[in-house]
Amino acid sequence: MKVFDKIADVTAELDRLRAEGKTIGFVPTMGALHEGHLSLVKKCVAENDVCIVDAFVNPTQFNNKEDYEKYPRTVDADAKLLEGAGANLVWFPTESDIYPEPDTRVFELGPLAEVMEGKYRPGHFNGVAQVLTRLFSIVKPDRAYFGEKDFQQLAIVREMVKHYNIPVQIVGCPIVREADGLALSSRNMRLSAEQRQHALRISKTLFASLDKMKEMSVEEVKQWVIKEVNSEPGLEVEYFEISDSLTLQPVENWNNENIVGCITVYCGEVRLIDNIQYKKNI
Ligand code: PAF
Repeated sequence: MKVFDKIADVTAELDRLRAEGKTIGFVPTMGALHEGHLSLVKKCVAENDVCIVDAFVNPTQFNNKEDYEKYPRTVDADAKLLEGAGANLVWFPTESDIYPEPDTRVFELGPLAEVMEGKYRPGHFNGVAQVLTRLFSIVKPDRAYFGEKDFQQLAIVREMVKHYNIPVQIVGCPIVREADGLALSSRNMRLSAEQRQHALRISKTLFASLDKMKEMSVEEVKQWVIKEVNSEPGLEVEYFEISDSLTLQPVENWNNENIVGCITVYCGEVRLIDNIQYKKNI
């Protein structure tokens, strides 16, 4: 596995590989890697001749300075995990390389970016679009891999590459959970043992809501989930929305093929997200 920091070195290596006819798969990350990221890397390795992973904590997508500063950074451990997962190239970009000057671009991301995270983290998706368009223009991948835990991000990235004609295939990969159901997240590293126990209530409630949909309306399930999670000590729901999986607009009933429930919960200071897909006739 080759490790890079400079853009010029990484592009020279990728140009060489492309000239040999190799396909390039890319896993963009912010580091602090866990099995969820590694599942993307393994899929990328299986589907491409070359798998490149970057780890860059992108400042422009954080609307909270403290959240940015406290975001875990585990460069050495990340490099070891990536080697084990079979990545070929790893890139740890520097901030001045990615943003030699402030990025003032404003992206048209449409209604997908106006709900949920878009509403509670203004500017977040614009920052994601800023960094991804830069990374894509440098790496020029054939395919790029994203986790479904960030369900809204995945939908927006698909829309962004379509809208801006970026020639890359976006591949979504399922959420990876701990054996007890907790969705893997780099932010879990910031939870105390006690908080982690409380956080389990999030996935447990989402799973239980699959049964509730048989007997309750969408609005009732929504209120039930919020009440259940809020009743757990130390947890506070920021939002829970039951939406169409493609448009991300709220649905009013279960007569829809693809429905997703997306939740964001504060566990102390740590902001956790999770989601569940509701299928008709379950
Ligand atoms: O999902 C993430 O880790 C980030 O939002 C991404 C896609 C790497 C952009 O910084």
